[in-house]
Amino acid sequence: MSEWVRIAAPATTSNIGAGFDVFGLAFHEPHDIIEGRKIDSGIVISSIEGPGAELIPTDPDKNSVTIALKEVLKRAGADFGVEVRIIKGIRPGSGMGSSGASSAGGAYLGHILTGEKLPINEVVMCAAVAEGYTSGTMHADNVAPCILGGFTIIRSYEPFEVLRIEPPKNLGLVVALPDVVVMTADSRAVLPETVRIKDLVYHVGHASSLVYAMMSGDLSLIGRSVGDVVFEPARSKLIPHLKEAENAAMNHGALVSFLGGSGPCVMSFYDKDTHNGEIIAESVKKVFNENGLKCDVWVTECGTGCRRL
Ligand code: HSE
Repeated sequence: MSEWVRIAAPATTSNIGAGFDVFGLAFHEPHDIIEGRKIDSGIVISSIEGPGAELIPTDPDKNSVTIALKEVLKRAGADFGVEVRIIKGIRPGSGMGSSGASSAGGAYLGHILTGEKLPINEVVMCAAVAEGYTSGTMHADNVAPCILGGFTIIRSYEPFEVLRIEPPKNLGLVVALPDVVVMTADSRAVLPETVRIKDLVYHVGHASSLVYAMMSGDLSLIGRSVGDVVFEPARSKLIPHLKEAENAAMNHGALVSFLGGSGPCVMSFYDKDTHNGEIIAESVKKVFNENGLKCDVWVTECGTGCRRL
């Protein structure tokens, strides 16, 4: 029997204010674990565990881990099959890149098993194909940071081009996940079909300055550059107490607080050198708890993407 290869595929946040379907950021934790070993032929899922496992298809043709894995095996010309075990650490419907971590973890597993033959951006593409299959629209803003780590920008989908920036070391992340499930397809269904030029100007300005701030390490400018006048306002009705949670984070030292991905996760950025992430996390959690909702929190930092354990 061939040895098991174990991959950690981290949670990610996407959009980050003005960069809808474009910006993404990898967390250090939490993460999914994807395990695989070579078999003679075919793709088999032998187990799925962890939060939300019952919602995840076991059919390899419908599961994002194995769809991404197969895409990498096909493109790399592999002559073997793979047995897969999935341990979810990120529940579906969280806005923390759960399906992205599955797709990215599957693609990265295939990359390792095939001896890292494909360019890494092609591995990201394979993960994006799987993400498109399971979420209905091909978007790579979670799979790109999940595989590459750091802060990522999808410059273009056709042709596909992704860029990576190393975020500032003192950028701290507080992730709060209230006990509400918001599926990406539902969160996309409430979006407007058109945007006003005034809003487009706002988004281009904020997106451009966020890239500048990430590259120059200006945390105060990062705080001022995360803004969204189109997507989060449309989605806020799906996430109870979102504004109160964001205000609580801001009142306890966050640089900025915003909807993570398609929600319901509430993200906050803070300066690790000057502020305490635990205090910000507690303040957000308290808002949800006082309104009868459980809330998980993580105080973490930017991560390096998928890795072999
Ligand atoms: N950019 C996507 C969205 C991420 O906001 O719908 C969801 O996974």
